[in-house]
Amino acid sequence: MRKRLEELRSQRWLAPDNTRSFAHRQRLQQMGLRREEFMSRPVIAIVNTWSDLSPCHAHLRERAEAVKRGILLAGGMPFELPAMSLGEVLVKPTTMIYRNFLAMEVEELLRSLPIDGAVLLGGCDKTVPGLLMGALSADLPCIFVPAGPMLNDRWRGEKVGAGTHTRKFWDERQAGQLNTREWIALESHMSRTPGTCNTMGTASTMTLIAEAMGFTLPNASSIPAMDAAHTRMASQSGERIVEMVWEDLKPSRFFNAKSVANGIAAYMAIGGSTNAAIHLIAIAGRGNVPLTLDDIQREGKDIPVLANILPSGSSLMEDFYYAGGLPALLQRIHERLSLDCMSVNGRTLGENLEYARCDDEDVVRSLAQPVSERPALAVLHGNLAPSGAVIKPSAASESLLRHTGRALVFDSMADLNARINDPDLDVDAHTVLVLRNGGPLGAPGMPEWGNLPIPKKLLEQGVRDMVRISDARMSGTHYGTCVLHVAPEAAAGGPLALIRTGDVIELDVAAGSLDVQLSDAELAQRRAQWKPAVPMPPRGYTKIFLEHVTQANEGCDFDFLAGWHEPAEPAIY
Ligand code: FES
Repeated sequence: MRKRLEELRSQRWLAPDNTRSFAHRQRLQQMGLRREEFMSRPVIAIVNTWSDLSPCHAHLRERAEAVKRGILLAGGMPFELPAMSLGEVLVKPTTMIYRNFLAMEVEELLRSLPIDGAVLLGGCDKTVPGLLMGALSADLPCIFVPAGPMLNDRWRGEKVGAGTHTRKFWDERQAGQLNTREWIALESHMSRTPGTCNTMGTASTMTLIAEAMGFTLPNASSIPAMDAAHTRMASQSGERIVEMVWEDLKPSRFFNAKSVANGIAAYMAIGGSTNAAIHLIAIAGRGNVPLTLDDIQREGKDIPVLANILPSGSSLMEDFYYAGGLPALLQRIHERLSLDCMSVNGRTLGENLEYARCDDEDVVRSLAQPVSERPALAVLHGNLAPSGAVIKPSAASESLLRHTGRALVFDSMADLNARINDPDLDVDAHTVLVLRNGGPLGAPGMPEWGNLPIPKKLLEQGVRDMVRISDARMSGTHYGTCVLHVAPEAAAGGPLALIRTGDVIELDVAAGSLDVQLSDAELAQRRAQWKPAVPMPPRGYTKIFLEHVTQANEGCDFDFLAGWHEPAEPAIY
């Protein structure tokens, strides 16, 4: 049923004949707006995560103008609202600590203002879940405009990808293969234009998952940020949101367990970042879909990696776009999808896939020729991770997926930095490197420390991968046999807090197990002696974070925000 003008949410603020509404109308006219511009049409928020210190979103200020064009064309009235900008590479201690901040901000912006629908602009890692979590909790019609990946770049003829090659070149530099002049020259490579990382990092992963779950126009998520098609997509999204308002097409009408399952299927087929496991649990929860790590593993079971993108493959997001983008990929796994799920364009996923075609069989592989049979995510349990841990087998060394080795334990990132390159460090290629206190509470904020550096002396011997275990996260652009998100984390008293250098750790990815060779009695004895670290008393937002963040297997949402809550409308007097 199409909404009538008087049913618009904004009309509750603007239409009544009383002094408050008079003041609302008066103050809008103070900005030079005519009464007709906001009184008889949907009011649309453009929630923009642009900032001068967010390179991945550098173009979003301009894109907002294209969105406005589309909104005006369709008879809506746009208002641009700045929201916290989480530029992944500059924000310290980690953007993850602020994902929930952004989610709260989006929810409260949409709740507190006379908004009928919203266009969400963002793309850098935590921005996507932050925007979607807030929008799901506000439950107003919304459409997501992904920032789009940066363009490809090359170094000495080789395609280089953001993040992935930074780590590769750093290892080469540590091993003495790259001189200072070359290292400095590399600073101006790999990230050639505004836009999100062009590898299958968390940004690409989350924007593609958002598309698979129906939050974007079809094939929006891989359009390069600097392509004119990106501007046209932004304008079209602006046009579409106005219709969505009249149709009352809000997330609770198209987001459900089946659309989450579609997101998980896409996650596996793209070879997505391990971070998505945390974000998906948090997003699904906000949309009233309870989700666990084991659910993700079950839904994604036997879906191989088909997108040939770094770090699991060899191409980049620009190539993926030319190959046909997400529709081409989803077409490959259509039997695993719920094609009747609705998307923001008002059509089903199946209808949106009707015109999908693959134009590059090497970039979007067939099921018969996957990039990797090994999955993008495996969930581990055992006496070292009672609530679970994850690993990305498709970006790990096959020879290390079953491994038993002696632990070398670092208590913190500072401890690791102080000792990892010590020539006398007792370590060899079989050692299992362990970093603890990198979780949501321990770091705090669960930074991307999980790709522990290989000790310099081993790099010089040619070692490029080792088993590494932590309660931290890892950038989706990185690779290696890294066990991540160990839960409960060490700072919460998880078994990771109890192990010592020299203990023997067993990893068996095929069996889904992660154990330390210690008896229950020994673990209990060590637990009795364990004392939690006493951190500096936190203040402000960090205090809220530490008091309310949940563990990685629960999505790291705040306990008072997680899950579904009937959206509360503000009282209007
Ligand atoms: Fe923004 Fe990678 S740093 S997407």
